[in-house]
Parts: sequence; C-alpha cells; structure tokens
Amino acid sequence: MKRIAVLTSGGDAPGMNPAIRAVVRKGIYEGLEVYGVYNGYQGLIEGKIEPMTLGFVGDIIQRGGTKLYSARCPEFRTEEGQKRALEQIKKHQIDGLVIIGGDGSYQGSMVLTNHGIPCVGVPGTIDNDIPGTDYTLGFDTALNTVVEAIDKIRDTATSHERTFIIEVMGRDAGDIAVWAGLAGGAETILIPEVNESMESIVQRLESGSSRGKKHSIIIVAEGVMSGNEFADKLKEHTAMDTRVSVLGHIQRGGTPSARDRVMASQFGAKAVEVLLQGKGGRAIGLRHNQIVDYDMKEAFEGKHELDLSMYHLSKELSI
Ligand code: F6P
Repeated sequence: MKRIAVLTSGGDAPGMNPAIRAVVRKGIYEGLEVYGVYNGYQGLIEGKIEPMTLGFVGDIIQRGGTKLYSARCPEFRTEEGQKRALEQIKKHQIDGLVIIGGDGSYQGSMVLTNHGIPCVGVPGTIDNDIPGTDYTLGFDTALNTVVEAIDKIRDTATSHERTFIIEVMGRDAGDIAVWAGLAGGAETILIPEVNESMESIVQRLESGSSRGKKHSIIIVAEGVMSGNEFADKLKEHTAMDTRVSVLGHIQRGGTPSARDRVMASQFGAKAVEVLLQGKGGRAIGLRHNQIVDYDMKEAFEGKHELDLSMYHLSKELSI
C-alpha cells in the first residue's frame, strides 16, 4: 500500500471534512501518498483525482459540508461506469480507497473491492442508520441543529398556544426524531419503526391540553410521512390550531460538533490503519464505545436497529 485515495459520497454530513483531514494526515504520517477524489464516484469515473497535501486539509476541521464535494452517482451502478472508475484508479496507481458516506456508498466500494482495490468505509450520514455501527458522522451535529430549532419553535408555540408539527430528516430511520424529540421534550414522536394510531396520538394531545398544557410539539420523521400530510390527518380529528415546520437541509449543514470532529478523527485514522493492514471490504464503526472495523457487507445487508427504549422513555416523560 503506497498510494491511497479518499472520497465523500451521498448526502453530505457535518464531520466529513474532519474525516478527510484525518485520512490525509494519518496517511501522510504513515508515509503514504494520499489522493483526493472530487465529487464522489462521479469524480472517480471522470478522473477528478488530485494529490492531497497537509495544507489542503488545513482549516477544515471546523467546517460543515465536504471540501471534496459529494454526489449521488447513478452511473457508478452501471458496468460501464464501474469500468471507467477502475481505469482511473489504475491510471492514478491508487492501491486502496477510503469511502466516506452512507450504506449506498458502501455498496459501490464493495464493487471496487471485488475488483481487487481494497476499500474501507467511514460512516458519514446524519441519519445514523448504517447497520453495524452505533454512530455515523453528522448525527450529533444534525441532532443539535434540530434541538435548537425545537427550542425556538417552542417559544412561539407557547406564545400562541399552538400545536407544532416539526418534520425532520432520517430517511427510513427514526433516530433523529427520537433523540431530538427526547432532548427537546416533544409530546409526540412519529417514527417509521413504530406504528401509532391516530386515536392514541389525539388522545395524548387532548389529555395534555386538558391538564393546561399551552402547546404541543410533534416530531414527524420523514420516513413516516410529511409534516403537511400529518397536519391534514390531524385536522380530521381535532380543531387544534396547528402549524408545520419542515426543517429540511439545514439539518445537514453547520459546523461539526466536538463529538463529530472527534469521531471523524478516530474513524478516518482507523480507516487508514485498516488499509495499511491490507484489508479491504471493511467498514469502520463504533461498538460499545470502541472504534472497530467489520465486514462491509454487514452494513448493507444487515438492519439498523433504533434503540426504542428512548422512544418509550420520551412517552413516559411527556405525559
Ligand atoms: O441521507 C441523508 C439525507 O439528508 C436524508 O435524511 C434525506 O432523506 C436525504 O438525505 C435527502 O437527500 P437529498 O439531499 O438528495 O434530497
């Protein structure tokens, strides 16, 4: 292993920049040449590949987004796209790759590994939904963004005695919704992992207001339905004065939290160590507070399990 490359792929996440920094600096520290691939797999296909220096990754530890840019790349799913990417890897004499992204990005890297280019995945997505790891980069920052938004919405919700429906991201996972709902004291959290009837939701809202609650916060994970759809359903059951806030892509931006910077540094460095051991098809993760590497197939063949005890706790605490 003499020359490695790093790329970021899929939806960006705060923490990707510190992870790039860690890969580049750890790689150089270990005597490797480190290249950067721009625009994810698309850039790999198009040969947007450049040598990285220590300076290139200076002043990015605190920046959101990804300095290498990211993309979702349908072309890489085709044989032709994969062939072109492999040609570029050969042309640039790259011996191994670190792929920072979600499980979709991992599937792509398995293709390269199967063609003899060892790849290691670093989990980077705000959704916290990659099987095999307890943590994905960006989750903590996104969570704090959502909680800050809930706190602000709560002020106006109280002033007007309104029910607010806040739609959060997470794709098919309820992690952002549950953690943010618990941290923000939401009355109701709707997640794809649990099917709650409209009757029980309405009953809880009404018992709260009969106890004198001035407002209600309802968090809806996008994997359940949109906030607006839920508002329409709620209107069929109650006459409550409701408003909808869709937080959207602000959840993906912003300066990475201290936790995301630390995790990114550890994940990135570990990925380089795994490549140095000549291992490919591995994913980096956090298990029982330890940084580990595991078979990447687990990441896209396994199932992400949300800790439902937090969901139940939030219900107990929001009676
Ligand atoms: O995977 C991260 C994520 O932000 C999801 O939470 C969301 O469903 C999706 O990406 C949005 O993707 P895009 O930015 O391509 O619309």
